Amino acid sequence: MVKLGGLGDVVGALPSALQPLGIDARVLLPAYSPAMAAGARLLAWLPDNGGRILECSGASHPVYLLDHPDFRGRGGRPYADAEGRPWRSDAAAFAALGRAAAVLAEGALVDWQPDVLHCHDWHAGLAPAWLRVAGLSTASVFTIHNLAFTGCFERDVLARVGLPSWLDDPEALEFYGDIAFIKGGLVFADRLTTVSPKHAQEILTAEGGFGLDGVLRARRARLTGILNGIDTQVWDPRSDPHLPCPFGPDDLAGKSAARAALVERFGLEAGRDRHRPLLSWVARLTHQKGTDLLLDTLPGLLEDGHSMVLLGNGDVAAESALRELAARWPARLAVCFGFDEALAHLIYAGADLLLMPSRYEPCGLSQLYAMRYGTLPVGPPVGGLADTIFDADDAAMAAGGGTGFLMRDTSAMALKEAVERARAYFLQPPLWQRLMRDVMLRDWGWAGSAEAYAEQYRLALQDRRDA
Ligand code: ADP
Ligand code: GLC
Repeated sequence: MVKLGGLGDVVGALPSALQPLGIDARVLLPAYSPAMAAGARLLAWLPDNGGRILECSGASHPVYLLDHPDFRGRGGRPYADAEGRPWRSDAAAFAALGRAAAVLAEGALVDWQPDVLHCHDWHAGLAPAWLRVAGLSTASVFTIHNLAFTGCFERDVLARVGLPSWLDDPEALEFYGDIAFIKGGLVFADRLTTVSPKHAQEILTAEGGFGLDGVLRARRARLTGILNGIDTQVWDPRSDPHLPCPFGPDDLAGKSAARAALVERFGLEAGRDRHRPLLSWVARLTHQKGTDLLLDTLPGLLEDGHSMVLLGNGDVAAESALRELAARWPARLAVCFGFDEALAHLIYAGADLLLMPSRYEPCGLSQLYAMRYGTLPVGPPVGGLADTIFDADDAAMAAGGGTGFLMRDTSAMALKEAVERARAYFLQPPLWQRLMRDVMLRDWGWAGSAEAYAEQYRLALQDRRDA
């Protein structure tokens, strides 16, 4: 419905994964464009011009939309305008989202009352704060997907959105002289989670805490890392409608067909070379994802005869540098800018290696999709990459296999070395086939993580009873 990255995948898949556990999870999303609201049913008007709640049909669980004037003008761009600037209406819009969640929790608005609010990232950070301000007993869990984005606004924002001034305090929402919406979640939610066990450790440190490590250390007993799952129905090479033909661990012919389709579609003549892995990238072009490291490494890889398909969008300077490189190497490098779900599926299926030189990666889903399609990820041992990429070094291969190639650190040199190491394996087809099969058989589904969230909901309810 609206997806810019992994948060969309998580919020899309987790509710259905909770259903078998007897949890009636419902989703509240902003209606980021009139198109999203079209066809949805009006349920209720919120007080104080807070917008209206609509209900969409079609999902396996109820999805509520907050239709509010401050979201409506965004034309389907949730976070930034066409120039890449954050929307001026952000504070009012996301304050309204948090408030709407708290009003829903009160139970008087629609014919349903949640026991627990599960809030994601700064955009929903004010919901736990509103619960506290309103004296409601609803429990809350706050999940950190990306701590780099804090939702900071000038101090007068509290009065503007109708929150009390006592929240302007370091023990509450104040953050280096601003008001940070994310602190509403970090300080007031009963339980905190982030999306991998390794990242739960990283954010407690000065290097990985984005200035919020102190706040998190104070609440470390409430913080857990729960690895994201993947929707194994949407991401299934045996039934994926975006592939030329299906394939699975026991029949990899369809994977070669997907590779051929990519080579054909982008005129990547050099991609026909079976002596080099076809490289890929499906990610936002940002500092987090190590776009600059890719730009430092890619010219050398292309000189060496490698080919690559890149799908991404974000940094404008990176896009133009990549465009120039693609113009120099048309038979080796294909670049696509924009958001293209169908092409993402084809790339995961048709490539041999997925490059993910992230500086930090709370979880990362791309590497898990790649694995499910027999494409080996390359990334540094940070966050969810450390928890899911088990290096296919010689020892691991002797002991049963790995799931990808770990970079020594997050540097251009380490990226190049890892690709070269992967190539040495790629040149041994029986070994590579075994790697592909093994990695496709790994279970990255939601079941275990849904149980872990259910446990957090239970604990949050317990905390509320004890409070
Ligand atoms: P993040 O949430 O930090 O962007 P993740 O790896 O968790 O990183 O999730 C990224 C998701 O967005 C994946 O589903 C990936 O396939 C998708 N994605 C990223 N860029 C694009 C793009 N340009 N077109 C289509 N899908 C994309
Ligand atoms: C964030 C993180 C990514 C994570 C995703 C979903 O966007 O950058 O690592 O997988 O959220 O949790």
